Amino acid sequence: MLKGMTLFSFMLSLLVFLLILHNGVHCFGEKKLLKLQQHFQWKQQRDASSCLSQKSRKEKGATILEMKHRENCYGGVEDWNKLLQKRLILDDLRVQSLQARIKNMDSAKTEDVSDTRIPLTSGVEIGTLNYIVTVELGGRNMTVIVDTGSDLTWVQCQPCKSCYDQKEPLFNPSASPSYQTVLCNSSTCQSAFATGNTRNCGNNLTTCNYVVSYGDGSYTRGELAHDHLNLGNTPVDNFVFGCGRNNKGLFGGASGLMGLGQGSISLVSQTSAMFGGFFSYCLPSTQAGASGSLVLGGNSSVYNTSSPISYTRMIPNSQLSTFYFLNLTGVNVGGVTLQDSSFGKAVTIIDSGTVITRLPPTIYKAVKAEFLKQFSGFPTAPAFSILDTCFNLSAYQDVDVPIIKLQFEGNAEMNVDITGVFYFVKTDASQVCLALASLSFKDEIGIIANYQQRNQRVTYDTKESKLGFAQESCSFT
Ligand SMILES: *[C@@H]1O[C@H](CO)[C@@H](O)[C@H](O)[C@H]1NC(C)=O
Ligand SMILES: *[C@@H]1O[C@H](CO)[C@@H](O)[C@H](O)[C@H]1NC(C)=O
Ligand SMILES: *[C@@H]1O[C@H](CO)[C@@H](O)[C@H](O)[C@H]1NC(C)=O
Ligand SMILES: *[C@@H]1O[C@H](CO)[C@@H](O)[C@H](O)[C@H]1NC(C)=O
Ligand SMILES: *[C@@H]1O[C@H](CO)[C@@H](O)[C@H](O)[C@H]1NC(C)=O
Ligand SMILES: *[C@@H]1O[C@H](CO)[C@@H](O)[C@H](O)[C@H]1NC(C)=O
Ligand SMILES: *[C@@H]1O[C@H](CO)[C@@H](O)[C@H](O)[C@H]1NC(C)=O
Repeated sequence: MLKGMTLFSFMLSLLVFLLILHNGVHCFGEKKLLKLQQHFQWKQQRDASSCLSQKSRKEKGATILEMKHRENCYGGVEDWNKLLQKRLILDDLRVQSLQARIKNMDSAKTEDVSDTRIPLTSGVEIGTLNYIVTVELGGRNMTVIVDTGSDLTWVQCQPCKSCYDQKEPLFNPSASPSYQTVLCNSSTCQSAFATGNTRNCGNNLTTCNYVVSYGDGSYTRGELAHDHLNLGNTPVDNFVFGCGRNNKGLFGGASGLMGLGQGSISLVSQTSAMFGGFFSYCLPSTQAGASGSLVLGGNSSVYNTSSPISYTRMIPNSQLSTFYFLNLTGVNVGGVTLQDSSFGKAVTIIDSGTVITRLPPTIYKAVKAEFLKQFSGFPTAPAFSILDTCFNLSAYQDVDVPIIKLQFEGNAEMNVDITGVFYFVKTDASQVCLALASLSFKDEIGIIANYQQRNQRVTYDTKESKLGFAQESCSFT
């Protein structure tokens, strides 16, 4: 009798132990809980003024700029579904244009960007470029979009031939005593157009005209100028930027753009004497009030990372000096390392301006198959635009989602945050899609995009040519 009881309780505890073990592996090793309700925050009223005048400060030799998602600027959006869907369509346009630009640069070095067809997109308020910071230019606060996929920093400028609506007053050159135009015959003008942008001085050699188009339908035209830039109390004299007199905009509300590419005219290059060509960011999610940071210079002691920074080499590309190229060597889905012959061979860039990560077709196929295997039993939903792996999760409170890790040369690893795995096409969760997409052709460029970089410290060291990743819950106070 006693022996029977002992055996029974032994079996029971073994069962309990096995259950705990199973659950432990299941929940902590490979999957993470996604609370679906937290995604319903778009129903809340947003305060459009919260997107103006992001804060900044200096700390331990670094300049830290508060960074927000532009969704915080959309006061009183009537149709979130439409906005969420349009963003994907625009994202596809941006990627097509990036691909064309990269392909043309590869075959012929001098490509006239002004010939790029600019699609008409009047009335569209949203763009794919999502993150904003505030800087002081010529003594005025200017809230600008951050883009690692382009070089030139620019603002909308008075007098304006054609400007989209912005929240702050237009930049007024005549109100800034330190403003100076860049002459067409200057070395600044010449070197600015070594890559990508088109130089056109017309008959009048006093100005250095530029055009930059972003492929999602946005462009800016104007002339180059110098003025005093202030980045969180770090002064930059004679900063070269674009005074944009004709701008078409998916820049919704922002006053312009900050170019963080690697080209000679980019902010990173122009400030390399003070920041050492070093910057990093933590891209916050779209939750109301969420903030992240753009850190210029300094060292890792200012970050709030919760894992060590793992580094990978930037792959040099002399013809495409703007972009940051990486060597994607693997993808891990829920603890399963995928095999594919494209790993280590496919050309990949990391970009803050593209929304959805694009993977070579065979890699995407493998990711999708493994994801579907592990995220099974949920009702499927139709594909939308570039996203083809969709579910109807409207009946669920929360779901266990396989963790996705992207691996890069040198054993660097980027853990995709739980908020970066699914894209909500519909706010009621009836169409929730795996937020990754396939490239159309295997010779296209892979893109590590901003949705997958959320809640991650991404460090760019352009002097040492290395890029780092660490987990961080973005914040700024
Ligand atoms: C810019 O914004 C900051 C913070 O919001 C504020 O303290 C500063 O006075 C503003 N500067 C100008 C020139 O308006
Ligand atoms: C980071 O910078 C601070 C101040 O500039 C310095 O005291 C600290 O030693 C540096 N830390 C590392 C890891 O280099
Ligand atoms: C550029 O042109 C101006 C006149 O438009 C002239 O004064 C100046 O010397 C020229 N500079 C160079 C570097 O050729
Ligand atoms: C040409 O230069 C003059 C004076 O330097 C200026 O007033 C005029 O606006 C310029 N024209 C163009 C088309 O830039
Ligand atoms: C990428 O890394 C892999 C593994 O280290 C290496 O075999 C491959 O040659 C690298 N590819 C490039 C383009 O450097
Ligand atoms: C999604 O699932 C819910 C609950 O299971 C169902 O009521 C609804 O009709 C489904 N929606 C679509 C678009 O299939
Ligand atoms: C780190 O977190 C603290 C507290 O939330 C915040 O004040 C600070 O701005 C963060 N630092 C960076 C670099 O994001």
